[in-house]
Amino acid sequence: MTVTIVGAQLGDEGKGALVDRWGEEADTVVRYQGGDNAGHTVVEGGEEYKLSLVPSGCVRGKTGVLGNGCVVNPRTLFDEIETLREKGLDPDVRVAKRAHVILPYHRVFDNMEETDKEDTDMKVGTTGRGIGPTYEDKAGRRGVRIGDLLDTDVLRNRLEYTVANKRAIAEEVYGIDAGVEFDVDELVAEFAEYGRRLQENDMLVEAGDFLYEQHEAGGNLLFEGAQGTSIDIDHGNYPNVTSSNPTAGGATVGSGVGPGVVGAGEIVGIVKAYLSRVGEGPLPTEMEDDEEDLADEIREKGGEFGTVTGRPRRIGWLDVPMLRHAARRSSFTGLAVNHVDVLAGLEELQVCHSYELDGETRETVPATTEEWARCEPNFREFETWSEQDWSAVAEEGYDALPAACRDYLEYLESELGAPVYAVGVGPDRDQTVERQTPWE
Ligand code: GDP
Ligand code: IMO
Ligand code: MG
Repeated sequence: MTVTIVGAQLGDEGKGALVDRWGEEADTVVRYQGGDNAGHTVVEGGEEYKLSLVPSGCVRGKTGVLGNGCVVNPRTLFDEIETLREKGLDPDVRVAKRAHVILPYHRVFDNMEETDKEDTDMKVGTTGRGIGPTYEDKAGRRGVRIGDLLDTDVLRNRLEYTVANKRAIAEEVYGIDAGVEFDVDELVAEFAEYGRRLQENDMLVEAGDFLYEQHEAGGNLLFEGAQGTSIDIDHGNYPNVTSSNPTAGGATVGSGVGPGVVGAGEIVGIVKAYLSRVGEGPLPTEMEDDEEDLADEIREKGGEFGTVTGRPRRIGWLDVPMLRHAARRSSFTGLAVNHVDVLAGLEELQVCHSYELDGETRETVPATTEEWARCEPNFREFETWSEQDWSAVAEEGYDALPAACRDYLEYLESELGAPVYAVGVGPDRDQTVERQTPWE
């Protein structure tokens, strides 16, 4: 069967922790979109692993696949594998030949465009990894795919066209000196060598067939979504989004596993018990002005600093319209709610139940970002809960959670129409209250 993990909010909901937890029963863990903009954390017995491109199942020694919907930077992939080896892991990573390659000039474009947008409301606050420009080239049919790295003539032909085009834009539109990132000979030499390494290490796959065969043989596939629903390029708050589809539909398009298979499995929405956001864009429930101290408290306690860029994350109260939107777009069959330990001991606890927009009450997210930015939250006050010995709570199970915390979770279940399978009470693998695994 399959289990698909999807971020229900703005990324960093703690997806890595659940992929690790539920990875035990998976045979293969599959990333279906995004690239090294992701920062997924797994903590096992106090040891912390930060994963950007290598699927989080590697901590348990599971095979990881980077599907065709991913954008892959071979430089960072090999660096990450090396770092994980130094930590004692032996990552088995397979890369779809149909996945697109992030080339050095994509990062130059990412940063150039962000600088250009600096003083406009178009600024995204990207991770600077070249994600958007690579997907642009994919859609523009001028990209380079992983499979193209194996044939130097094909690679050179692609690059000769694309690099000339990029160089002209960089120099004539942005007025920069195009450096070594735009040197076709250098690029061919470096990236053909990555192709050779990928092949020599038996890392290349036709992902759809590889996964089809595993599924046919009764294997368990765990899809590891990166980013989150509200930064999905279609369903997020455009243009303050990433350039791929983290929502569950992405799992099928981005892996080559059919929608019947993904839809017959479980789709679990990962929810952070409050909100965090890195980068630009509206956040109707953001803690600002007289709530800044509270935001600082949560940021410090929850370690809310970007895994990839180290930026402090913006903090807000839980936004239920955002979650209804996510549950509907991805057909959640279950939920995992993380970080309830971070909310413990607060003096107040608010949840946005609905929005007020132009004199109307709305329970879902409006389609334009301008409207979303104008939404005023209608808050509901919830009872707070106190600090606990969370590891003991995790061991004892759901009924050991404070009653106020269970009320909060049960409100979410009823609003989203999906049961809570797991509750995160700390970063460690063992600090999860599990009611049910999605494999059951
Ligand atoms: P991801 O991108 O969705 O995988 O999430 P990140 O790894 O970027 O951010 C989540 C952070 O919270 C990481 O530092 C995790 O170790 C940590 N974390 C995950 N679940 C919990 C939880 O339930 N409680 C606490 N306190 N931390 C958690
Ligand atoms: P994980 O998988 C949170 C945000 C960036 C920026 C926008 C576009 O760890 O949850 P990009 O570099 O993708 O073009 O940036 O998306 N962003 C994330 N925010 N978690 C992530 O990944 C993110 N990946 C990208 O901050 O606002
Ligand atoms: Mg993250």
